[in-house]
Parts: sequence; structure tokens; C-alpha cells
Amino acid sequence: MTSNPEPVVAIVVAAGSGVRLGGEGPKALRTLCGRPLVSWSVAAMAAGGATAAVVVVADGTQPSYEAVVAEAPVPVTLVAGGASRQESVARGLAALPPGTEVVLVHDAARPLVPTEVVAEVVAAVRAGADAVVPAVPVTDSVRRVDHDRSEVVDRTTLRAVQTPQGFRARVLAAAHAAADRTDHTDDASVCEAYGVPVTLVPGSSDALKVTRPVDLVLAEAILADRGETPQTDPRGDRMQDLRVGVGSDAHRLEAGRACWVAGLLFPDEPAGLVGHSDGDVACHAVCDALLSAAGLGDLGSHYGTAAPEWAGAAGVAFLAETARRLRAAGWRIGNVAVQVVGNRPRLGARRAEAEHVMTQALGAPVTLSATTTDAMGFTGRGEGVAAVATALVIREAS
Ligand code: CTP
Ligand code: MG
Repeated sequence: MTSNPEPVVAIVVAAGSGVRLGGEGPKALRTLCGRPLVSWSVAAMAAGGATAAVVVVADGTQPSYEAVVAEAPVPVTLVAGGASRQESVARGLAALPPGTEVVLVHDAARPLVPTEVVAEVVAAVRAGADAVVPAVPVTDSVRRVDHDRSEVVDRTTLRAVQTPQGFRARVLAAAHAAADRTDHTDDASVCEAYGVPVTLVPGSSDALKVTRPVDLVLAEAILADRGETPQTDPRGDRMQDLRVGVGSDAHRLEAGRACWVAGLLFPDEPAGLVGHSDGDVACHAVCDALLSAAGLGDLGSHYGTAAPEWAGAAGVAFLAETARRLRAAGWRIGNVAVQVVGNRPRLGARRAEAEHVMTQALGAPVTLSATTTDAMGFTGRGEGVAAVATALVIREAS
């Protein structure tokens, strides 16, 4: 007669802030196909055998983890994390149900670990191993560095270590209790420092650790392969984070002034544009379109008469500074199209030059067109020049 397999409890560590990923909120609550990383991870643990319970070690300041608990397929306990991963695991261990024999420790940041990997780790612990890690061969060539010297390391002898790692619960608890440092990056190394041999099983490239923004795109591609509906478009731009904006500007022409339009000086023009700055309607319309797209106000609120340092400033200086302000607020610029409306200056012959200058200043593609108004209105009568622009911006990996 065979006895029932030992129940398995998983600790999912989800208390990191995700500095390398950037964006808002804890990394574990960022979504893939509309579901938080930590939810995918809890489901992966349950599917692979951790059906007794899951302890989620969360960022204690975030109530949003409650929703994760509510929709989990197994009983979930929430505990607050510590300052390092190792401390977060220790807090998870302290919250294990009494009598837990087999424990998995998993990074919430590895949401797509395949069921077979989890099951294999569980099987190895049940078969008698005290510490089990899934590991994969290293694909890059590797060098060991020491100040200004470096030497190749034979990569066939190396493995990259993943999670979940599986343990005899009392062994892991004892190893953590005995640890004399708090910066171990995984639990197998805590056990090894305690003298416990570590058993390797095959990991999977799907178990990637979401660390940088591109990893979210890769993870969604893996999910798309599994039939889920991704949030990203084929180029990896997050559809819900694309925004458009519109801007326009008009300035009066005055005889004898320098004529700046679309970042260029037109030295032969008899009249130039009057304004707080150099009156470059094209650059101003572009800036307004960008600020409008990003929801950051408009030209007046950024560089109005209350900002005297911008008096007389060149149009391209506004472009460069506006681009900087958008980027600082977490926006990437897709492209900008601007149209100048007026009789003079004639832009056609210098279109490529103007596009180049504005593109350089902005750090994103700017296209320029021009039109007249059939002798109607202030532009048609040659009293002034107007411009209208449209901008597309993308929120950086949110
Ligand atoms: N973790 C944790 N408590 C900490 C630090 C990390 O629970 N004090 C968890 C993370 O939530 C993650 C796992 O440990 O699931 C692996 O850590 P890592 O990928 O480094 O995540 P972060 O520390 O959040 O990211 P970063 O290092 O970029 O800030
Ligand atoms: Mg970290």
C-alpha cells in the first residue's frame, strides 16, 4: 500500500519593488495579459503541486494584494516582506502552516514557470532530496572579472538557477535560522552555506525572471503562444498606453524681424514672427501637441511670461526641453507631424533640412508639411503664420 504524497506548501516572494523594471507600484502587481505577475505565480505553484496552501510575501503597504488572494485557486495567506529577498523568505517560513513537510520557494517575478518544472522539483523533494533547484545552461559566453583583468569561464560547467526551489521544510527553516548574512539571492545558497547538498533538475527558458521592461514583452509573447490575449501590439508597445495630442500656434509677421520657422532661419524674408520667444510657430505647435498628449498642460503653463528665461529662446530649445520634460514624466515620443499654414516663408525647398533639425532636437521623428489658405484669413493676407501639430506618445513600460 502506498501512502498519500506529502502535501506541498509554496512561499511566493512578492515584496520587491522592481527597481530595474521601473514604472509604478510593486513589480509583482504588474500585469501580463491583464493578470498580476504574482497571480500567475500562485497559479503555477498550485498547478505544479502546491495545493495545500500558498504564502504570499507581499509589500505590506499595498492593499491590492488582497485581490490576488481572493482569486487564487488555493488557500492563500498574506504576510509582509522584509528588506531583502532572504528576509522575505524567512517571514514566509514563519507563516507556514504547522506540520508543513515540503515547501517550495518561488519568485513572483517568474510567473510563467511551466507546470512540469514545478512538478519535477516537488517529486525530487518527495523522493528524498533536501534542497532542489531548477537550472538551465548558460547561453552567453562568460568571463570572470577582477578589476582590470578578466578570464574566460567554461560555460558548459555553469547553470543559471531558477525557482521554484524545493526543500524539506525543517531543513530550509534551520538553514535560514543559522544564516549569518542576509544577502543570499536564493534559498539553495542559504542551504548550501548550512552544509546541505543541492540537487539540480532541469529548468525552463519560460521561467524567465521579469526584471527589465523587455521581459514583460517577452513574457506576453510566451503567453500569446499559450493562447492568452496579450496586452501588447506586435511591436511591443502597450496599446492602452499610446496617447495622441494636438497643438496649434499662430504669430504675427513684422517687417525687419529675423524669420525663424520650423527650426530654420530664413535670412531673405522681409518679415519675421513676433512672440515672447523667436515666434517659431512650428516648434511651438509641436511642443503643445506633445504636452497635450502627455497630459502635461501646454506651452503657456511651462514657458509662459512667468518664465522669463525663455524670452527670445529658439524653437529648437523648446523642442529639446519639452522632450526632456516628457521623458522625465515617463513618456517616450513616437512621432510628431506638423503643418505650417501661411504664404511665406516657402518651406518646400528646405523641408528635409527642417525635419532633420526638429528631429534632432526632439530625439524622435518630426515630419513637416506646409499649406496656404487661398488668400483667405490672416495667413492668406500675409499678416501672420500658423501651425498645427499632432503628436503620438507612449508611456514607458507601466
Ligand atoms: N523580493 C522580496 N522581498 C525583497 C526583495 C525581493 O520578496 N525585499 C522578491 C521579489 O518580489 C521577486 C523575487 O524576490 O519576486 C526576486 O527578486 P528580484 O527579481 O530582484 O525583484 P525585485 O527586488 O523586486 O527587483 P529589483 O531587484 O529590480 O528591485
Ligand atoms: Mg532585487
